[in-house]
Formats: sequence, C-alpha cells, structure tokens
Amino acid sequence: MQPTQRYRDMKTPKIALLITLGLLSLGGAGLAFSDDDDDDGDRHGSHHEKHGSWFGSRSDIAPNTNPTYTEECGSCHMAYQPGLLPAQSWAQIVNPAALANHYGDDASLSDALVLELSTYLTQNAADTSSRTRSRAFAVASADNASGGQTESLPRITQTAYFLRKHDEIPARMVTDNPDVGSFSQCNRCHQGAADGDFNEHRVKIPNFGAWED
Ligand code: HEC
Ligand code: HEC
Repeated sequence: MQPTQRYRDMKTPKIALLITLGLLSLGGAGLAFSDDDDDDGDRHGSHHEKHGSWFGSRSDIAPNTNPTYTEECGSCHMAYQPGLLPAQSWAQIVNPAALANHYGDDASLSDALVLELSTYLTQNAADTSSRTRSRAFAVASADNASGGQTESLPRITQTAYFLRKHDEIPARMVTDNPDVGSFSQCNRCHQGAADGDFNEHRVKIPNFGAWED
C-alpha cells in the first residue's frame, strides 16, 4: 500500500481503480481541456508536478488527503475534493466572514483551521490539478464568472461543466427525491464520490437506480 509516491496525486492505495479510470477517460473529453483554456490568470500550481504520468493526468478528481478537512468540512455534506473548484472560488468560500454565512448555515471555524483548510484547498484546487476532470471544473468556472453569479458564494453545482453534465436529470430524482435533496449531495448518487470517482457508470440514484444514458 505504498510505492506510489512518485505520482503526487496517488497517495492512496487505489492504483488499480485509478488506472481503470485513466483508461476509461482516454475515450472521453481527454484533450478538450488544455492548459490554454485556463484563463483566470490566478495560477498557484508552479510547485506541482504537471506531467507525472499519462493516467495520473487523466484520471478522476484527486481524493482528499487532509483528514482535518474531511472531518471539518464533511459533516453536513460530503467533503468536496479541492479539485472540484478553482483556487479563487475556494478563497471566497473559506474565510471567516463567508463561513459565518455559509449558504445559509454557520460553518465558522477557528482562525488556525481557516488558514490550514484554505491553504489545503487552494494548493490542490482545480486550476492547479493536471487531471482532466478538474481541468473541466476550472475552465467552466471561468466561463461561469463572466456569465454572472446569482449567489454571493460560488458553487460546484453552478459551474458550466456541472450544469452540462446534469441537465438531463429531472427534479423528481433530485430536489423532490427525499433521499437526495439537492445536487450538492454528490455522494447520494455517485457511489465513488468520497474517493473522487464521479464516473457516470457508477451513478445510482436513490429510488431510481442506475443511470442509463
Ligand atoms: C454546518 C453545516 C456545514 C458545514 C460544517 C460545512 N458546510 Fe458547506 N454547505 C452547507 C450547506 C447547508 C450547503 C448548501 C447545500 C445545498 O444547497 O443543498 C453547503 C454548500 C457548500 C458548497 C457548495 C456546494 C454546491 O452546491 O456546489 C461548498 C463548496 C461547501 N459547502 C464547502 C464547504 C467547506 C469547504 C466546508 C468546511 C470549511 C464546509 N462546506 C462546511 C453546510 C455546511
Ligand atoms: C441526483 C443524482 C446526482 C447528484 C446529486 C450528483 N450527480 Fe453527478 N451525475 C449524475 C448523473 C445521472 C450523471 C450522468 C449524466 C449523463 O451522463 O447524462 C452525472 C455525471 C457527473 C459527472 C460526469 C461523469 C462522466 O462520466 O462524465 C461529474 C463529473 C459529476 N456528475 C459530478 C458531480 C458532483 C461533483 C456532484 C456534487 C456536487 C454531483 N455530480 C451530484 C447524478 C448526480
């Protein structure tokens, strides 16, 4: 369970899964989201390895590696992986003022925790990741920002990439579904969400079953 350190995103033992995901995503959106599409001008990724391996760069969202984050930010909803939003969005969400009014909830934390978690999130954000799926979330947010936000805090579920991927799912399966509630509850439908696996073939909507595209 250890000789994976040379791939910076792969500190967990799920090598086989990640290889599988890499192979699956080869047929997908692969080259559609190049580094050139990242135009938010706010890169923090200079210290990150960008070409570790062909499958590392194409696999799904990198899993959480910070147990404090998983604990503090995973109690009301799943602990969203840093690779689901760009650094600028995380900075807007994880600061004292925003946490005190967090999508209608109070999610306040000590200053020390705010610093630790915002550092973790921004350093591993979608726009610093080499993974295709994260690149997609980073790109979509840039588009989204120019399109005008309706809410003061950014949302994963309001990025253009997210909206495009979920636009065929009717409300009766989401907001009107007592076992889902909202699109923010990724892990109610995505069986592998906690590990960063959002592949559409592992979706099972409560009370409706597997998703047939
Ligand atoms: C006290 C409960 C609570 C805690 C703790 C909490 N959140 Fe939330 N969070 C919410 C609620 C409620 C929503 C809105 C969910 C909805 O619209 O269905 C939300 C939404 C979000 C969203 C937007 C999801 C979307 O729809 O795209 C992000 C991102 C987020 N939280 C990040 C965090 C982070 C980071 C932390 C830790 C610093 C955290 N949350 C801790 C309650 C909480
Ligand atoms: C109501 C169930 C449901 C919820 C909640 C949900 N999804 Fe999905 N998601 C789906 C379905 C169904 C698909 C496949 C849609 C299609 O292919 O038409 C999908 C597709 C995706 C894809 C593309 C997968 C692929 O193989 O291309 C991503 C990425 C994704 N979801 C991320 C998320 C994230 C992140 C969240 C939470 C913020 C979330 N989803 C919440 C049902 C859900």
